[in-house]
Amino acid sequence: MSITSEAELQGMKRISEVVATTLKEMRNYAKPGMSAQEVDEFGGEMLQKYGAKSAPKLTYGFPGWTCISVNNEIAHGIPKASKILREGDLVNIDVSAELDGFWADNGGSFVLGADLHQHQPLVDASRNILLKALSQIRGGVKIADIGKLIEKEAGKAGFTVIRNLAGHGVGRSLHEAPEDILNCYERRNKERFRKNSVVAVETFISTHSNYANQANDGWTLIGNKGGFVAQHEHTIVITDGQPIILTANNEI
Ligand code: CO
Ligand code: CO
Repeated sequence: MSITSEAELQGMKRISEVVATTLKEMRNYAKPGMSAQEVDEFGGEMLQKYGAKSAPKLTYGFPGWTCISVNNEIAHGIPKASKILREGDLVNIDVSAELDGFWADNGGSFVLGADLHQHQPLVDASRNILLKALSQIRGGVKIADIGKLIEKEAGKAGFTVIRNLAGHGVGRSLHEAPEDILNCYERRNKERFRKNSVVAVETFISTHSNYANQANDGWTLIGNKGGFVAQHEHTIVITDGQPIILTANNEI
């Protein structure tokens, strides 16, 4: 969406704070031995307390309030009761929701407890690359140039990117134009970021894979060459200068 009034900006700020706080609290709540379902139920209750509705459930009929992807799962992981979280797991929680007709989206990967499997460098690279990309986004910047930056920074850190997952416009629905805020350079994409528009920018930084494939459950995305992927995502408003990071209080 494009922000055209103070009321719209306030509406986006409200739902963004809800998804950011829910993500932060879910991450703090998650402990080794819990199931993904327990963490998801906690998040679902928080959304409900704020009067917000789960975006993936509302939009796609997703079987959970939030997406919880663990280890080899890249994204859209189902928060199942059988998915038990272990110390040292690479966990990604993605929270998106609707409130009063406004939609926001954020996510973040983290290591659960002690970093037994040395995932932290991947997590740090993903987070730092997201923040670097955001610092370069303003009205008039080519979307393809941000993809190029993400890919280059991933390479410098010794990682690859997932080429078929992308950030996207958000605001009046979960996924809006522009639909392809990729993590790599796409020569044919001449589109530019527009001032006052709201977008969700997300990294998909990978140890081995470069494409995501759907698993047999119809939801979970898995890397084509295995390994691990970290994602971090913020919803922002584009300006002439630094963007307004609407989901900043998720502390990813
Ligand atoms: Co998301
Ligand atoms: Co998103």
